[in-house]
Parts: sequence; structure tokens; C-alpha cells
Amino acid sequence: MKTLDPCTLVIFGAGGNLVRVKLIPSLFRLEMANRLPPRMTIIAASRAVRSREQWIDEVVAMLNAKYPQGYDQEVFERFRQRLHYHSNPPGDPESYRRLQETLENNPAFSPNVVFYMAVPPSEFPVFIDNLGKAELLGEKNGWRRVVIEKPFGYDLLSAQTLQNSLYKYLNEPQIYRIDHYLGKGTVQNVMVFRFANLLLEPLWNHHYIDHVQITHSETLGVGGRAGYYEGSGALRDMIQSHLLQLMALVAMEPPLTISAEHLRDEKVKVLKAIRPITQNSVHAHAFRGQYASGTIDGKTVPGYLEEGDVVPGSTTETYAALKLFVDNWRWAGVPFYLRTGKRMAENSSAICIRFKNPPQDLLRRTRQGPQQPNWIMLGIQPDDCMKMELQVKVPGLDLRTRAISLDATYRKEGDDDFDAYAGLLLDVMQGDPSLFLRIDEVEAAWRVVDPILKVWAMERDFINTYPAGSWGPRGTYRLFDREDQFWRHSLNLDGADLLAY
Ligand code: BG6
Repeated sequence: MKTLDPCTLVIFGAGGNLVRVKLIPSLFRLEMANRLPPRMTIIAASRAVRSREQWIDEVVAMLNAKYPQGYDQEVFERFRQRLHYHSNPPGDPESYRRLQETLENNPAFSPNVVFYMAVPPSEFPVFIDNLGKAELLGEKNGWRRVVIEKPFGYDLLSAQTLQNSLYKYLNEPQIYRIDHYLGKGTVQNVMVFRFANLLLEPLWNHHYIDHVQITHSETLGVGGRAGYYEGSGALRDMIQSHLLQLMALVAMEPPLTISAEHLRDEKVKVLKAIRPITQNSVHAHAFRGQYASGTIDGKTVPGYLEEGDVVPGSTTETYAALKLFVDNWRWAGVPFYLRTGKRMAENSSAICIRFKNPPQDLLRRTRQGPQQPNWIMLGIQPDDCMKMELQVKVPGLDLRTRAISLDATYRKEGDDDFDAYAGLLLDVMQGDPSLFLRIDEVEAAWRVVDPILKVWAMERDFINTYPAGSWGPRGTYRLFDREDQFWRHSLNLDGADLLAY
């Protein structure tokens, strides 16, 4: 375990959802595990005027909501000492000057500073510009790091514009573009699974793999986030970032070392090798949908158009599915199917890898129905697990086969459980950018989705809908290359071959 420098974590956007639901509970979780650096302080900043005591009361409410069963008061007391509040109207230079003065003159605050931008993406440049002008980003006394939440830009061009505004005051190693999927245990396990187990490597290519599916589905709707989501949609919100990162981890070559640069070099190579989707071929490669009202957990829920703040007649997609090809030696001809949706039948994130059938179907007379290929599946949530499906002989006198599932769920009772944000916050404090996105990765990911975004932006008259609580719009099967390919909704054997609706 590395000893960490003392540091000051300044979180802009302290009044927001991310801080309440993820950042404060994750920091407290690190406090419980004794992993926060000594003399580390946390300055929450937002436009509202609050006293330190009022902020602490709010933090208590956040922790009570997260830990209804209670928590150790001694640990909380340690945490409480770290908490401070700074009122910061985003465009007011005076508030940055006061912050600068505090950090410079008050010995309680370490000059090593992490600035966390938990603010709307349109405000990133305003914050950076003001921090830069107040000389808060220079590293003359201690280090300065900036965490930028996603989405990084709105398309390739806006990402590059945003990048230029950051480079005015920051160097690349100071910028931590966060993708919280990379902080999830199973996602990191993709690398361990591939690179610490030799037996898979010979199979991990187009000779043996038929296709790969990467799914993120959730039962929640947009809730109170329509303001953001209307300008984003599922493709930008989930696929450009999280799902393309998962795909890069599955498809990348073994890096030279697991250092941040080597790892990111390999991921970016995969993203660059994704076959460009021309505007003419968008419909063959991408499918979108929007949830209509339906039933979730036995309750009727409204459709997207009935949610607050949604523009009447909006064609923003809440479901997106893509078929991508990686044009390199390893993956030639193997489709990667990516899909995500809100208000779907289940909460589930998983990577499912389907193998090809054996070259000769020797056992065709011994079974009923079609050949059952092998699958390897990595469940990311709700449960992190690993499963493999194989064929075995049914015990008895006849030579009959059936599929079995080897369940290598590796979580044991008592294993540590940390939210993705906890690990990533720790990484920023220790200056490890491995699990953060480098600018060339972000650009490459925008290049993949930009043509689709352009076509969808022009087609504003119609969008397919799907009932809330279903597995998405009918018609997404159009993306599949062959009739024996289908969306895999369940990691269990019995739910394996349901179709996509
Ligand atoms: C966020 C998206 O990045 O990821 C949300 O903005 C989405 O729309 C969320 O719900 C999913 O994250 P998780 O960790 O709940 O799978």
C-alpha cells in the first residue's frame, strides 16, 4: 500500500447528485478503510451560501441515506474534521481569489490539490479558466490535478475545443478524465482474466470467437436528469464512454507493462482499429429506441416523453445498440454488439463472449435442437461473476448431450466492497492515471460514434419505441449478422436464448 501525500480535495458542484450519491459516500468508505491520506481535507464548493456546520449536516444526511444501519461515530468524527465548505458562484473571479488565498495561507490545507469537476459539462471551461486566472493550477508549491467528469465534449469537435481550453492552463498528466466503469472490480478483472490466465489467450481471436456482446441495461428511467439527457441520449451517455472502454479492454493486445501509458496505448489502438461507420451504413450498424410507458416491478411507469423537462416530441434515444468490427489481425470479421437502455427489463451489465461451433457436428444425432456453442460471460453488475458454458454427456446409457454452466463467482463473503468512485478517488490522490482516459482515447471514441450521431440528429421525425420493462425495441435483431445470433439477456442457462423483445 502506497503512503499518500497529504492533499486538499476541492469538489465543485457540491450541491449535485453525484456528490450526494457517489463522492461523499465513497470518501467516507475510504475513511472507514483508513485509506484517506493523513491531513487530507475536503473543500466542498458550490454556488449556494452555506456555513461549514450546515454542510456537515448535509453530509450526515447523505451518509444516513447510504448507511441506514448506522456507522462508526469515531470514524465519522475523523471524517468530519476534514470537511470544509466554500461558496463559489462559478463565474465570480473573487471566489477563486478567496480560494487561492485560503490554499496559500492556511496551513490546514495542503498545497497538493485535486479539483473535482462534478459540474455540468458546459461549465468545465468556465471553472478551468477561472482557476487558471487565479493561478490555482500552477504546480509551483505542490501538485495540482483536475478530475473531469464525462461526457468530455458533445462530439469530436467540441471535445477538441474543450481540450484546447484545458491545455491553456494544464498539462496532460494533470488531467484525470474519469470513466467510473474503469473503477468497477469486474471491469479490471477483464484484464486479470485475460492476462493472468494463459489458457484463454490461444482462443481469444477470430479463429474461435463468433461474436462479443456488451450490455448495460437498467430499469430506472431518466428521473430528474432529463435536462442533461435531452442533450446526450444513450449513445453519448453510455456507449461513447463506458461501453467502448469495456470493448477496448476485451479486444486490446497485451500491453508491454500495466503502466498507465502502455495500457492506454493498447486501448487506443483498438479504438482506432474500429471500422469507421459511414453515414450510409449507419442503419446497418446502429439502432435506437425510446421507452414508452410500461410496467416495472408491477408498477406502471411513464414513457420518456411524459418525464419532466423532456422536450415535446423529442426523439432522444434511451436505447442504443451498435454492431462494430475491429479491423485487425486478431478480430477480423468478429462482430462486437454493444447495447444499452433505460427502463429495461433488468439491471444488468455484462460481457458475453460466444465461441464458434466445432468444425464438424459429430454429435448432431444425440441432441434435440441446434448446436449449443460455448460462452464465456463476465457479469459486472448486479453481481460480479464469471461463467462458462460447455457441453457434457447426460448420465445414462444413451449418448446425449446437454449444456452446463461453470460458475466461477469469485466474490467471497467478507471480501471488500468499494464503489468504483472510491478506488478512482484514491488513484487520483496517488497520481495513478491508469484508469482514466487519455485525450487520444476520448477522440478515438468520438470518431466511432460521430457519424451515427450526425444521422440520428437529422432523423428527428421518428424513433422506435419500446414498452418500459421490456428488453428494448423490436427490430434490433436487424443488427445481427446471422440468424443464430441473438441478444443474450441472462447469464443463466435457462434464460439464454430469449430474443430481443
Ligand atoms: C452514468 C450515466 O455515467 O452511468 C447514467 O450518465 C447511467 O445515465 C450510469 O445510469 C450507470 O452507471 P452504473 O454504475 O449505475 O452502471
